[in-house]
Amino acid sequence: MVSKTIMCPKCKSHMKIEGNPGEKINVTCSNCNTKGFFTFPEEKHASKKETDSFAIEVNGLTKIFKDLKAVNNLSFKVRKGEIFGLLGPNGAGKTTTIKAILSLIHANSGKIKINEFDIKEEGIKARESVGYLPERVAFYPNLTPLQTMHFFCELWGVDKSVAKPLIKEVGLEDAIGRKVGNFSKGMVQLLGVAQVMIGKPPVYILDEPMGGLDARWVKTIREKIKMLNEEGATILFSSHILSEVENICDRVAIINKGKLIAKDTVENLNKYLKIKPRLEITIKDLDGKVHNVIKDLKVIETVDAKDNKLFVTCESSFRSQVITKLEEAGLKIDNIKTIEPSLEDAFVKLIERDM
Ligand SMILES: Nc1ncnc2c1ncn2[C@@H]1O[C@H](COP(=O)(O)OP(=O)(O)OP(=O)(O)O)[C@@H](O)[C@H]1O
Ligand SMILES: [Mg+2]
Repeated sequence: MVSKTIMCPKCKSHMKIEGNPGEKINVTCSNCNTKGFFTFPEEKHASKKETDSFAIEVNGLTKIFKDLKAVNNLSFKVRKGEIFGLLGPNGAGKTTTIKAILSLIHANSGKIKINEFDIKEEGIKARESVGYLPERVAFYPNLTPLQTMHFFCELWGVDKSVAKPLIKEVGLEDAIGRKVGNFSKGMVQLLGVAQVMIGKPPVYILDEPMGGLDARWVKTIREKIKMLNEEGATILFSSHILSEVENICDRVAIINKGKLIAKDTVENLNKYLKIKPRLEITIKDLDGKVHNVIKDLKVIETVDAKDNKLFVTCESSFRSQVITKLEEAGLKIDNIKTIEPSLEDAFVKLIERDM
């Protein structure tokens, strides 16, 4: 069973539907009651893995600022139809890489292609298929969001009728008549997301698209990214907040100090780093304490306590031994849960290893 967010073609509102790959279902818009049907695509990931055509190819990219190597011989390829996450801590070189892909800065060395067009030899063709959301979005402060969107529609020769639905899609309809100069940082970011979607480009490059947004809008942007990808777009986006990219990226490249330190699916990263699932044991009256009985157990690799929860990492064959020890020490176990490793765990381990 897969879930999808689809847009009503009439009122442009979004709804979540569920079904199996290849299944055709009847859909009624909960907002305007428009009826239609939707066919779930066949398994997408299988076909993505099979494709050998790339939307973005970065080969041996190096960028030096005075004596600082911001990007150091970086190579990665983004497949067509893929959501690719460029991850790394602050200052890792994400924005520099993105700017080099878009020829906004001059790289010292390296070869970059967008949709098979070399950015140096066929720069215009390479860039015309890309929608770019910069890290720091800036608009004319005296314009309203609608005027701003109309301005960009004119610039790119797109019909202005797309402006209002896009403003609604990012949740800015209540601010449609206000001046952008009075917008909060998050609101400007949302307008940036609406603006980048104007021409429905086949490739999106988004530099920290969720930066500065609260949890509700992070969810909205994640859903937008998923929706654009389901419509066929390739998306490269950067982030230093791992929870933002988890579960939506097909693959991730992790960079640190300008160098690639890993590139794979989140699942494979966890596998080869041998990050084990953690046990979350809820214990009555634990009060955030790690008992000596646990500290002394050699089979435990990491242990941590918060409030009434104890977090333990160990080989799965030793789990029952841990539980027995806790019970023998007279602790009352209310619940035991297994937490699967996250991208956060992989990221921390990789950065530590790189240091
Ligand atoms: N124009 C510039 N001149 C000098 N140094 C720069 C310039 N732009 C970036 N840098 C440096 O290059 C390094 C990489 O910066 P970059 O902005 O690419 O990092 P980032 O991964 O995008 O970080 P963040 O998550 O904070 O946005 C940093 O040390 C930064 O100070
Ligand atoms: Mg950046």
